[in-house]
Amino acid sequence: MYPFKTTQSYPRNQWYIAAFSHEVSRTPMERTLLDEPVVLYRTGAGAAVAVAGRCPHRRFPMVRAAVVGDALQCGYHGWTFDCSGACTRIPSQEQYVPAGFKLRTYPLVEKWQWLWIWMGDPTLADTSLIPDHAALHLENSAWQASIGGVEPLAGRFQLMNENVLDLTHVTFVHAATIGTSGIAAAPIEVEDRGRYLHSQRTVAEPNPTPFHTRVLGLDGPVERVLSTDFYPPAFLSSGSSFYEAGASGQPGGRLFGEFRVFHIATPETPVTSHYFWGFTRSFGQGDEELTEQLRAGWRLGVLEDIDAIEANERMIDRGPLQHDLSAQADAGPLRGRRMVEDMILAERGTELLSSALR
Ligand code: FES
Ligand SMILES: [Fe+2]
Repeated sequence: MYPFKTTQSYPRNQWYIAAFSHEVSRTPMERTLLDEPVVLYRTGAGAAVAVAGRCPHRRFPMVRAAVVGDALQCGYHGWTFDCSGACTRIPSQEQYVPAGFKLRTYPLVEKWQWLWIWMGDPTLADTSLIPDHAALHLENSAWQASIGGVEPLAGRFQLMNENVLDLTHVTFVHAATIGTSGIAAAPIEVEDRGRYLHSQRTVAEPNPTPFHTRVLGLDGPVERVLSTDFYPPAFLSSGSSFYEAGASGQPGGRLFGEFRVFHIATPETPVTSHYFWGFTRSFGQGDEELTEQLRAGWRLGVLEDIDAIEANERMIDRGPLQHDLSAQADAGPLRGRRMVEDMILAERGTELLSSALR
């Protein structure tokens, strides 16, 4: 499925962000992830749990279940499932609950202020595959990390990946907010760092944007290093470091500050996503007014990206099939695309192999 050369839309045996921690409470909430309804809730001790959104009895929505202790009691015929998914009660036959009766559960890991879910084969859910939150400056006392929000996105997740992997668009899509004219023309370096893909460019900004001037306290021309780190299948950390003009890469060069904005489009369906975003900064720690200014400023950028991606999505299947043309600046998006495609193909290979062995 576009833009992949596979019929499948996304890999399943990977970690995805399912929700922010604050969204999940003792009251069940439903979210469609990878085309499956999932229900999230917390036990009395506060542990987050993810279960299938349909009752295995007659497919009633589990979001309408009652939380009884740590268990869910289906709102239709009262079957009850503990937080490991085991059926513990069938009201019409109290003495006999077949041992194999289960509600599907999903591996879930709470880190920083969000929940990572594994939608595929649970035996493959290796938590060491979750990006290192210290390296992301999410669990780093020298940086202050904040939640942005979660927005509906009427576009396929890979469009978000490729949007952030080529910051050329910042000059055009974000002309009124966080972009300057020189970004599009700056040469880009792309580096495969194993677990993630790094792309970077350095731009002289004789006139930084009013937003950056205000939040970073800039007082003249700067050199801005923009970079994106892509952790496939769907996690992007993109940000800028602002140096005194001519000082980037120089020992002792004055650094005004650095920030990263996180962009995660988790597939909802093959063509829609949940867009989670957040940010972390190296400056103005503890200044909550500044946090609000940053959130409001970046939200404008987030809305500009949503508008561009949704407009793009609407055109994908219109007109006769066409091969896209690519330029040098597409090196990052194309490599990122291959990383995700390889994940899809690798798991299809495993599936074919296991069905052949059956
Ligand atoms: S549908 Fe859930 S108990 Fe019947
Ligand atoms: Fe953008």
